[in-house]
Amino acid sequence: MRPAPSSAGAALRSWTQHALPTSQSSSAAARLATSSVASQTTVVQQRRHQSSPSQAASTSSFDSPFRSNKVDSNKIPSFKAYRAKSPEVSNRVFQYFMVGSMGLLTAAGAKATVQDFLVNMSASADVLAQAKVEVDLAAIPEGKNVIIKWRGKPVFIRHRTDDEIKSAESVNVSSLRDPQADGDRVKKPEWLIMIGVCTHLGCVPIGEAGDFGGWFCPCHGSHYDVSGRIRKGPAPLNLEIPEYDFPTDESLVIG
Ligand code: FES
Repeated sequence: MRPAPSSAGAALRSWTQHALPTSQSSSAAARLATSSVASQTTVVQQRRHQSSPSQAASTSSFDSPFRSNKVDSNKIPSFKAYRAKSPEVSNRVFQYFMVGSMGLLTAAGAKATVQDFLVNMSASADVLAQAKVEVDLAAIPEGKNVIIKWRGKPVFIRHRTDDEIKSAESVNVSSLRDPQADGDRVKKPEWLIMIGVCTHLGCVPIGEAGDFGGWFCPCHGSHYDVSGRIRKGPAPLNLEIPEYDFPTDESLVIG
């Protein structure tokens, strides 16, 4: 490669010391744009300063309610335009009619709701059918026990003999743990009807057993007499007497 002449080197150095024409032109354009924006801003500001407040008010389309002191806030507006044109009496009749109709509808709805609720909560037909049990007494001979089921509980029906009745009536009531005369526990002396659940912890006592010829509860050793009264053992009360009646001489209805 041949070395460059010295005149060419001097020309190259002088050329590199010049700024690029493109960068010069762009910076000049930027300066020109900046000065143009500044001059426009100045003109707008000068115009704003020159315009008076009255001119600004006349050109504004917004009418503020707080600018005027003439507004009377205590003044009641007129509702004449909204009032009915018909006479006042006919209006009142219409109002009474509407109030009465609405009251009637509300009462009917409330009644239906309460009625539905009560019907839903009441016992069903099969439960009501079990509420009462009828027993044919002619089928129970004297001196025998019958156990029937009533509302899920056993019920003892005892056809008592004359000796048993005499024995039950001769007991000194004041000596009993749960004092009760035999006459207060039966409607007919020959028929003793009791719920067969021990008053201690709910076992079912055995009939014709125990020290007093009545019922005996084997769970903890409670003895009941022929009137179903507690005589010995841990049970605190006599056997319970259910609601019952004798519709005829030969029939018994429990419940
Ligand atoms: S349950 Fe009958 S004596 Fe305890």
